[in-house]
Order: sequence, then C-alpha cells, then structure tokens
Amino acid sequence: MILPQRRIIEGFPFSIIQFEEIDSTNRFLKDYGRRSPENGLIAMAGAQTAGRGRFGNTWHSPKGQGLYFSMLLHPVDPRSAMAVPLIAGVVLHKTLEEMFPAVKRSLDLKWPNDVLIERRKVAGVLVELEHLPAGTSLVVVGIGVNCNQNEFPAQLPGATSLRLHVGARVDPVSLLDAFLIRWHDYAGASDLNMGPESKSADAPMPSPAIAFSLSKAVADWKDRSTFWKDRAVRFNLNGETLEGATCDVAPSGALLVRLKSGRLKELLSGEVEWIRNI
Ligand code: BTN
Repeated sequence: MILPQRRIIEGFPFSIIQFEEIDSTNRFLKDYGRRSPENGLIAMAGAQTAGRGRFGNTWHSPKGQGLYFSMLLHPVDPRSAMAVPLIAGVVLHKTLEEMFPAVKRSLDLKWPNDVLIERRKVAGVLVELEHLPAGTSLVVVGIGVNCNQNEFPAQLPGATSLRLHVGARVDPVSLLDAFLIRWHDYAGASDLNMGPESKSADAPMPSPAIAFSLSKAVADWKDRSTFWKDRAVRFNLNGETLEGATCDVAPSGALLVRLKSGRLKELLSGEVEWIRNI
C-alpha cells in the first residue's frame, strides 16, 4: 500500500499521516503498529467509513465535519493504561478551552473521557491497548471531535459540535496541531513520564517504556470536571440498571457512585448516563 505523505509539526516528535478517507484511524494504527510500532505516529482522516466508538459503537465521521485522528504510543508500561484515557480527556479539554474561550465556562468532562459543552458530547476518546509478541505494549489513542456539524442524526440526540457554540467554522488540522503540542507539554513532562508508580523499587519499570502517573491524571481530570461530585447518574452493572449520585474518582481512576440505598459502587469501565434527578 502506498501511504499518503507524512507531515511533521516543527519541533515536535510527531509524524502525521493524513488520509482523505479511511475506515478507522484506530484500526489503521493498530495494524500498522503491530508491524512497525512507531511512537508518536499520528493517523488523521478527513472522513471515516467505520469510525469506532467505545463499547462497539460507531463514531459518526462525515467528511469535513470533524477531527478524526489516532496517536500511537510505544512502548507503554501497561500499568499506565488506565491513566491514558483520563489524560487524553484532560488535554482535549485544555485544548478546547484555550482555542475557544467562548466555550470555556460550559466545557466539562464526563467520566471517563467524554468532553461536553452544555452537557452535550462534543468529543470522545477510544483508547486501545495491545500486547505485542516481542513483549512490549502499544496504545492507540483515538479521538473524535465534532467540529462543523450543524445537525446530527436522530440517533445522536446528545451530540453537539464546536461550530454550534463558537459560531464559526473550525479547522480540524489546526485543532489537531494544538492538541499535539499540548499533549507533548503534558505527557512529555518528566514528572509524568516517570510517575511515582514507576519509581517504586518493587515494581521496576520495563525501561524505557512510557509510564504515566495515574494519581496526577486523576487529580488533573477532577480539576477540569464537575461530573465526579453530586451528579445524578444511571449506569448498568452486571446486567442491572442502577441510579445514584457521583461522589468521587478513586486513585485507581474508578468512578464512585453512592446508590439511593446508601451503598457505594465503584465503576472501572462502562457508560454512565447523566440524568436530571434521582
Ligand atoms: C467514544 O465512543 O466516545 C469514542 C469515540 C472515538 C472516535 C475516534 S475518531 C478517530 C479514532 N478512530 C476511530 O475509529 N475512533 C476514534
């Protein structure tokens, strides 16, 4: 296969392959990464025909309407995997806040990493971890941002786009570059790359694997989110639909929800619906 031309951002360790259209940038980077796990490789597409969302959902990816990209990280300490979705949400939130001050006050993060504007989803993150036969692990961070949609299909009633709030067309390429620069500032910082977890004597890091501090990721995520405290939520746990109020994000990254009965539930993954009242 002849790949489209690559581009770099001057001074930053990313190489960007830009497709006009592809099935899924996550699918592409995972396949590519198995053969050639190139840390910092980015795949971006103008449109996706089979964009992947979390829990097997599809990500609506019409041409020119959104930013659709994936980032390959390798080798990653697999113990860091839980931190990556939180960090991606934090960096995305920071990028949107700085690029679009008009939406700053209505931006929010919904656990684990949906970015919301006025409680509607403007961006989502799909992180996939893969262990390679050589013994290392790669992570593909896939991000979709609704940029220029004026409307959404009926099956996406909770979606919104930047354009609907900013009132102007948003250039996906500028948004990608802004994200990558902030990702590098955040995730390339030495205190994060060598977080306390990876320094403990009884858990040597498989040097030189990339490791992220989960405690810093949780703290930064909580700083940017209103969702983790006193929000009425509904979720499914082991086939049971439960309702309760959020009360914290644990150091493990799990969302803690107090049920009406007073019992505390710890969610490690899953979809959580933000409801009006319990
Ligand atoms: C979610 O369900 O919230 C996550 C959506 C992630 C979508 C992005 S778009 C670019 C990348 N390629 C994919 O196939 N999915 C992610």
